[in-house]
Amino acid sequence: MTSPGPADGKTFVAANLAAAFKELGKRVLVLSADLRKPSIHRQFGVPVAPGLADALADSNGRVVVDALPTKVESVRLVPSGRADGNPGELLASPRMTRVLEAARRMADVAVLDTSPILVGSDVAPLLTKVDAVVLVARANRTRAELAQRAGDVLRRLDAPVVGIALNCSTEINMPTRRRLVRPASKRARAARSPEPSVQASSAERGRGGAARRRRQRKKAEVG
Ligand SMILES: Nc1ncnc2c1ncn2[C@@H]1O[C@H](COP(=O)(O)OP(=O)(O)OP(=O)(O)O)[C@@H](O)[C@H]1O
Ligand SMILES: [Mg+2]
Repeated sequence: MTSPGPADGKTFVAANLAAAFKELGKRVLVLSADLRKPSIHRQFGVPVAPGLADALADSNGRVVVDALPTKVESVRLVPSGRADGNPGELLASPRMTRVLEAARRMADVAVLDTSPILVGSDVAPLLTKVDAVVLVARANRTRAELAQRAGDVLRRLDAPVVGIALNCSTEINMPTRRRLVRPASKRARAARSPEPSVQASSAERGRGGAARRRRQRKKAEVG
């Protein structure tokens, strides 16, 4: 889960996605991979450390990540941790690749909460190591130009983007069908017409209508 900038709702959408997978009966693992601004642990009621950064910074041969049980049944979480070290380098390390391999084994679905694409470069190495990337955009907040730039980065990296989550979408006024498909005016219809149209005057239309109604009444009386 990533987005162009801060506060687009990555953490919010990641937490909800994890809960939705749990509702589908999946065993879910949440990985807090935003090492600079960890927050998803709070939503699941677990401490921030020890966690991912500690496991990545540990120079021991084995990579040990503890997936903590959370207040949501069937959802476990690996918090960000607190180790010193450059978050970008830690996430780009071969140790992170091993963490992802372990995550695939530990659960049916692993949801990663990450940092923004256009702020720093921490997330870049993750975008090509995961199976699917969801780009979050927030209605009335994420600027189209930034979304486009994030899209360019994802394309350049050849990231496996599976979709865009439009967060807070009820905050925008979607065009109604009426506004999207406006009936053409009479003048526009006439301009489009291949044949010159012969229009009855309103008086003729009135007479024609009255005659038709008289004929219909007569038919009804006969019937
Ligand atoms: N759909 C939503 N409805 C209500 N509140 C929301 C929604 N999406 C996000 N928020 C709130 O907006 C704030 C920013 O959201 P969030 O922390 O998920 O963004 P983020 O993209 O993870 O930010 P950061 O880049 O700082 O990690 C939070 O307080 C969050 O609770
Ligand atoms: Mg966040």
